Amino acid sequence: MSERVFIFDTTLRDGEQSPGATMNLDEKISMARQLELLGVDIIEAGFPAASRGDFEAVRAIAGSVKEVQVAGLCRSVTRDIDLAWEAIKDAAEPRIHTFIATSDIHMRHKLNKTPEQVLEMAEAAVRHAAALTSNVEFSAEDASRSDWAFLARVVERAIAAGATTVNIPDTVGYAQPQEYAELIGYLMANAAGSHKAVFSVHCHNDLGLALANSLAALVAGARQAEVTVSGIGERAGNAALEELVMALATRKEYYGLETGVNTEQIYPACRRLSQIIGQPIPPYKAIVGTNAFAHESGIHQDGMLKNRLTYEIMTPESIGRKGTDIVIGKHSGSHALKAKLRELGYQLDDEQLALLFKAVKELADKKEQIFDEDVEALVLEKVYRRLDRYRLVDMSVFSGTGGVPPHAAVVMEFMAEGAAAEQRRHSAFGEGPVDAVFTCISELTGLAPRLLRYQVNAVTGGTDAQGAVTVRIEDAGTISVGRGTNEDIIVASAMAYINALNRLEKLKEEKRECPTL
Ligand code: KIV
Ligand code: ZN
Repeated sequence: MSERVFIFDTTLRDGEQSPGATMNLDEKISMARQLELLGVDIIEAGFPAASRGDFEAVRAIAGSVKEVQVAGLCRSVTRDIDLAWEAIKDAAEPRIHTFIATSDIHMRHKLNKTPEQVLEMAEAAVRHAAALTSNVEFSAEDASRSDWAFLARVVERAIAAGATTVNIPDTVGYAQPQEYAELIGYLMANAAGSHKAVFSVHCHNDLGLALANSLAALVAGARQAEVTVSGIGERAGNAALEELVMALATRKEYYGLETGVNTEQIYPACRRLSQIIGQPIPPYKAIVGTNAFAHESGIHQDGMLKNRLTYEIMTPESIGRKGTDIVIGKHSGSHALKAKLRELGYQLDDEQLALLFKAVKELADKKEQIFDEDVEALVLEKVYRRLDRYRLVDMSVFSGTGGVPPHAAVVMEFMAEGAAAEQRRHSAFGEGPVDAVFTCISELTGLAPRLLRYQVNAVTGGTDAQGAVTVRIEDAGTISVGRGTNEDIIVASAMAYINALNRLEKLKEEKRECPTL
């Protein structure tokens, strides 16, 4: 009999803290629904006290999913805990996740508190949270660099105060697998009442050991793993959900552990995240990279033809890579689109569906076959971004081999709260067509951030594939990423740049609202 491991997904909280991975409200809800389809046990929806936007997003997610627990993160202070509870309390199964740092270096330099004060704060925070819900998780931040005996006291007090899950994070990715497993074993053996709580692991990937550490801790007795889709997260990221789940599934006879994840939703979840944050899945990424199931060498191909098991330890189908389905053509109706959206995990209202249907038909006029990826790109483009401040209305570009310098003309719409949208137009020269378009947009908006990255990918195969452009920009320390998809890559570039500017403005607004976080 396999034992159950709970999957705690923190893509929308720790993952969203990774540079350039910010998502808007609709995108977060769409990701949360995808995680529900994936079958994770807990979604950490955000950090409600961090900003008004975070609070609203957590509340909206709590109201949007039903089959999964929703956690809100909070520091060990009453105001944070109350805000987290306010944001999640209407979820089908809410969880308060409160944390405080327990390592000497964090207690002394970050918190400016003595160990005894930290102990008191942890206990008081858990007690306060437990008065609101019986589902309380406590995390000892920087646990892996904490004094083990002190950590055991903190864990003991948190459990006595009502914590039902105790998380032992390797916050800075410092632990080694054997050592981390020993720490989990030590705490389970030495913290009184440890049998009353589920031990959880939360590993960062600074030394590339997040997955190995998480698995070692599960072997040692932990039964909750905190992970993110594609491993996104602070600095080098967190343990990747797809790697942990597939390691447990593929080597079930070794671990004797199982999760409730529907593995066939793994690839759709990674693809959805990649589309939302505008960062392509790296080709060599374990489990979901394009090369993960590609067999190039003759010897491997020969083996595969004779028996797939020679070089394949899991099938692409098992993670939901079925090959691309043709979704809809010129003559398909809105019912077919509705069914496809349901299959992809989107729930759109009638107005959104009408918008999307029109966009799909327009694309079908230009492109022979429309794939799942095309539909997903259109949902993000046409539905989730419709309330953005800046919008592209029209553009044209001239470029060639010399003579006349490249130039562009751009028409944009500017939305302001409570006022009618205003159209402005501008033209400019540039070093190339993309540069000319970006110059127009910068001069129209008055924003001139530093361009950190510009990347073009094809959404699907074929010469008529849509181009997906990712743009990463920085202004006064704020980094934003934008994505645009269009059959014309210069138009996709303009859309990506405008998307990045919209996100930049929102991020700056949030920073102004909450300068301390
Ligand atoms: O890495 C960490 O320690 C965290 C905690 C807040 C759980 O993300
Ligand atoms: Zn973390």
